[in-house]
Amino acid sequence: MSTTTESIKMNLPKEVQVLAEKVLSRSNPRSFLIPLLHKLQDVEGYLKEEYIAEIASLLGITKAEVVGVASFYNHFKLTPQGKHSISICLGTACHVKGAGFVADKIKELLGISEGQTTADKQFSFVAARCLGMCAMAPVLMVDGKVFGSVTPEMVEGILCQYGYKGGK
Ligand code: FES
Repeated sequence: MSTTTESIKMNLPKEVQVLAEKVLSRSNPRSFLIPLLHKLQDVEGYLKEEYIAEIASLLGITKAEVVGVASFYNHFKLTPQGKHSISICLGTACHVKGAGFVADKIKELLGISEGQTTADKQFSFVAARCLGMCAMAPVLMVDGKVFGSVTPEMVEGILCQYGYKGGK
């Protein structure tokens, strides 16, 4: 156990190491997988593959098990994210009000698909399934700020608020 702990201390980000040390002193360290992933993502912005491997080693589980848990929750990101996070709701209420056309406009302007990040690392784009504000459909969220009744014509103006300069 001590060898594993030492190797993790050398490689995980410091804040994650601190939590990892606490986890190791508990009777069931595996039950702290999600808190460790939260801390890692808070610090790094996403779950770096090399750190996933270390956390798996620490908890005595496989890397595939960690990735499986991380993939189950939309919150966890396995790839680097852009400075700004864009979520388009494609739930039923938003879909029938034209969210698909809004999504198409975002893809056209940014040159990326759902689940991707622009090459300049400014924007990440994901699709959600109901953001809980159906009365405002179609709903777009940027860095946690909600935009309701969004039309394709509004997309460029919204993105410009977050540094989009167009023509990229
Ligand atoms: S379906 Fe879009 S907010 Fe509910």
